[in-house]
Amino acid sequence: MKKTIDEHAERFSEKAEEYDESKSPEYRACADLVVEHAAPDAGDTVLDLGCGTGAIALALAPDAGEQSSPSGRSQADHAERVIGRDISEGMLEQAERKAADRGLGGVEFDEGRFREPNVPDDADVDVVTTNFAMHHLSDAEKREAIDEVAALEPDRFVLGDVMFFDEPDPAEPFYSPEVDDPATVGVLSDALTDAGFALTAVEMVHEQVGVLAAERVPDADG
Ligand SMILES: C[S@@+](CC[C@H](N)C(=O)[O-])C[C@H]1O[C@@H](n2cnc3c(N)ncnc32)[C@H](O)[C@@H]1O
Repeated sequence: MKKTIDEHAERFSEKAEEYDESKSPEYRACADLVVEHAAPDAGDTVLDLGCGTGAIALALAPDAGEQSSPSGRSQADHAERVIGRDISEGMLEQAERKAADRGLGGVEFDEGRFREPNVPDDADVDVVTTNFAMHHLSDAEKREAIDEVAALEPDRFVLGDVMFFDEPDPAEPFYSPEVDDPATVGVLSDALTDAGFALTAVEMVHEQVGVLAAERVPDADG
């Protein structure tokens, strides 16, 4: 990580109020694909890591209705319970405010980080999502985070983020080398496979943005 957790948290809290205002078409497409691939069943529990102001968590929340996706596209699938976790108090406050404004229940936000997600004891996580957040971690930290996700034994993990399908190019949009540390698609795919996931979809939104969907391979002993 190029900044400490506290530095990242402070950076995001400072821009939390304006965060939703300027989103690129690629960000929206990525978020929509994360929601689409998450496809929770009605009784599922979803954990959204690096939830920010709630783009993914709120779209998947129970009662989120048909206008809930980040691009306003219709989304049919909603979980029973959605747990959003982030390191930034300011971003979490925005997510909570939006949930209240929309009258959404079944969605809860609190402090939690990729490698210490702070999952409530009574939660049995079926689907883990993350969008545009994991690129703050180094490749080794991403591996640890993916192992942490695998330990929760979800059926599915959907990872949308800045990721390199080709040579990294900081002149292109989507990341700042001083604060961000995106991985190649190969590094992320290997980490998912090594953690016991099988890739079910690789979606390229841009040469530097993509979504990986993965299902957990059941243990050989069931
Ligand atoms: C670019 S925002 C994306 C927010 C949201 N997922 C979305 O799609 O709009 C990145 C978020 O990741 C959070 N974040 C950064 N490092 C994190 C970590 N180690 N654990 C949890 N969240 C983290 C930041 O606080 C920020 O809210």
